[in-house]
Amino acid sequence: MAAQLIDGKAIAEQIRQELKAEVDVLKQKYGKAPGLAVVLVGERKDSQTYVRNKKKACDEVGIVSFGTDLPETASEEEVLQVVAAYNADPAVHGILVQLPLPRGIDEQRVLDAISIEKDVDGFHPLNIGRLAMRGRDPLFVPCTPKGCLELLKRSGVQLSGKKAAVVGRSNIVGMPAALLLQREDATVTVIHSRTPDAQRICAEADIIIAACGKAEMVGGDWIKPGAAVIDVGINAVDDPNAKRGYRLVGDVNFAEAAEKAAKITPVPGGVGPMTIAMLLRNCVDGAARSFE
Ligand code: GUN
Repeated sequence: MAAQLIDGKAIAEQIRQELKAEVDVLKQKYGKAPGLAVVLVGERKDSQTYVRNKKKACDEVGIVSFGTDLPETASEEEVLQVVAAYNADPAVHGILVQLPLPRGIDEQRVLDAISIEKDVDGFHPLNIGRLAMRGRDPLFVPCTPKGCLELLKRSGVQLSGKKAAVVGRSNIVGMPAALLLQREDATVTVIHSRTPDAQRICAEADIIIAACGKAEMVGGDWIKPGAAVIDVGINAVDDPNAKRGYRLVGDVNFAEAAEKAAKITPVPGGVGPMTIAMLLRNCVDGAARSFE
């Protein structure tokens, strides 16, 4: 393997230490701790795991976590009432509604109801709109793409004047990742399912962020020698030799890409741990703004 590994687990741990110190200062100065409210609707196992991990991470850095679990059968109005109560609660500085919501609940209506001052996911259209505009700043940036940029910066990857390719255009990752790279003065191409010559475009990029949700789609011949590769994907593929009968792979073929890239994130242990670290970052920033 030629590439240097970008260790998301270690970088996320370092960020949590930094945040813990910041939270201690806030507590000393204002006598209050940052608070995060997590709303979970339904019984999806993956969402339950994410929510549990988010609350545990809050505890570790001294953020107070609040939680509301609603049943699968909860109505949209009930979810909106919970959001409204957290909007009005001065002990809560960040509100996260775990996605996806059960069918029948209008996700956009729920996300739009979160106060932009507490929108730690950065999904409110006002925050996304500001992210897209030159000379304007969002209050919060979505956690996963923010984590991707943090990994690049902390690994010493220069962004200004570079060519970047983002594979995938989701509201949660691809689109905001492209906006963030552009704000750092990279020249960005967004590749999606209808893009002709996706491989050629990618192979010209100095920086690749892969977030298309397709196991190992980005092969070695998609990588420019010396590129920095950030793999957001996490896909289970059948493997009879693996302990659980499957193994986790990214959207990048790691073995092939690592032969050509200069720097690359592993899966797992790359972007994943950074998403939660950035959520904590956003929550502390929101609290600090409200205390001042
Ligand atoms: N579901 C999957 N990713 C996310 C995320 O970043 N935020 C929320 N709220 N739900 C998610």
